[in-house]
Amino acid sequence: MMKKILLAIGVLVALVLIGAGTAMGMATHKINKTYDYVALPNITRDSSPEGIARGEQVFRAVCGECHAGGGNTKPVGGRMFDFPAELGTFYSANITSDMEKGVGGWTDQEIARMVINGIDKNHHFRPMPPFPNMGDKDIAAVIGFMRSGHPDFAPEKAQPPRSELTPPGRMAFAFAMGINDKGRTEPVPVPVKAADSVEYGRYLASSVYDCTFCHSPGLESSAVKMQHPETLLSGGFEFDLVPLGGEGKLLSPNITMSETAGIGKWTLDEFKHAMVTGVTPGGFILRPPMPKYRYADDVELTALYTFLRSVKANDKAVPPPTGGRPKAEPSADPEKMFSSLGCATCHAPGKAFEAKLQGAKGKAPEEVAKWIRNPESFKPGTQMPTYESLIDENNALALAKFVLGKTGGTVSEGTAP
Ligand code: HEC
Ligand code: HEC
Ligand code: HEC
Repeated sequence: MMKKILLAIGVLVALVLIGAGTAMGMATHKINKTYDYVALPNITRDSSPEGIARGEQVFRAVCGECHAGGGNTKPVGGRMFDFPAELGTFYSANITSDMEKGVGGWTDQEIARMVINGIDKNHHFRPMPPFPNMGDKDIAAVIGFMRSGHPDFAPEKAQPPRSELTPPGRMAFAFAMGINDKGRTEPVPVPVKAADSVEYGRYLASSVYDCTFCHSPGLESSAVKMQHPETLLSGGFEFDLVPLGGEGKLLSPNITMSETAGIGKWTLDEFKHAMVTGVTPGGFILRPPMPKYRYADDVELTALYTFLRSVKANDKAVPPPTGGRPKAEPSADPEKMFSSLGCATCHAPGKAFEAKLQGAKGKAPEEVAKWIRNPESFKPGTQMPTYESLIDENNALALAKFVLGKTGGTVSEGTAP
């Protein structure tokens, strides 16, 4: 998703810079070549309870965003609509522990190399944006979680097709993003985890959660963007909302500590609240592709904030998205609430989670109202924001009845949950 614009522009750059014919041949060669010289990193699973817990944090916020899409928590893979069609048809892979269709037959080191280099078990390049600077310990933790026996990784037979790159797509991956064929021979450390550590916050923001990539302008990798403090985290990276089920364009916001253009007025608690629930202090709903960091703990969120405070404040304002931002202004009219609270951006006909509303079908309005205020308590890690602080129980109930009307069922009053 996040690499999308990078890819699109990369194509243009590649086409202009290099004679199209030769370049195409070179790109195809780079994509199809056997990377048997890329060393396996010396990383094996961390199966300690702390390792597994850490692995779950990273997996849910990072890997799960692509491998377990559409509100699914099982990483069975599937079509990724947020990659641009000009570059190909993209599918993330089944990475459950199935021996044949999943990664049950891969060694830990093979999974680690896939994460670092994007090179698979059979030494082939796969079109996944890799994590070249994620620390050994965090990769070991992710693999520990994947191998922990957690039910989400139970073998599944799903087999999404392989992604198919168009010629421009091949050019983009081969040249604009580049294929990282340098095997990791030296361990990459994870900085000491502490709330007041700028370094730990910087590591999370640039090498794990990639805030720096989505929230800085331009198409380069996070590592390159980190070298440009004058624009770092000042927003303006362009997302197309249409493939995500929305309308128009969305520029990522400036998240430097500028008081006028960024989040300089946000307190630490407001920041934490927005990151976890998807609701900003001004009552705006944060939509995908902004992930929710429900698994991040207090120390991580504080370290991120500490790091953001250390970044040069940038007063350049980013224009608001087409059609404005969905704002939480609860009213007694459920139809109005459905659009003002941003429910429609996910659940209206044609939007990304239209079908998910059907999950409420046949349930009691009281139960649905509880879901609406706190979906996290029913489904950890869900993309749906937490509305608890924005709507009271009465408004939630009105909304629940309205939503049940949309599921096609009759809304019975006072059914026991
Ligand atoms: C931006 C989306 C995205 C993210 C984030 C992502 N992946 Fe992937 N992953 C993909 C795509 C796309 C493929 C390749 C599918 C193909 O080759 O058609 C893939 C392939 C894989 C494969 C190869 C599976 C196979 O059966 O061949 C593994 C293993 C994998 N990813 C693990 C991970 C892990 C672990 C993480 C988190 C550290 C992660 N991925 C994060 C999109 C993503
Ligand atoms: C895949 C891209 C992506 C990643 C990764 C990402 N963001 Fe965002 N972020 C967005 C987009 C897009 C929005 C705007 C969403 C909207 O308005 O609906 C946003 C909104 C925000 C906002 C709200 C700003 C405001 O003025 O309302 C904050 C704060 C934020 N992100 C912080 C972060 C941090 C910190 C990280 C890393 C831990 C991060 N984001 C990672 C894309 C991303
Ligand atoms: C950012 C996208 C998003 C927004 C905004 C959103 N939802 Fe959801 N909603 C989801 C997803 C995803 C699911 C499916 C749950 C899952 O699998 O994670 C869901 C599920 C539901 C369900 C089904 C519950 C069940 O029992 O299965 C209801 C009802 C619902 N949402 C109502 C609402 C209402 C009302 C609002 C606005 C107040 C809203 N949603 C806003 C993404 C969203």
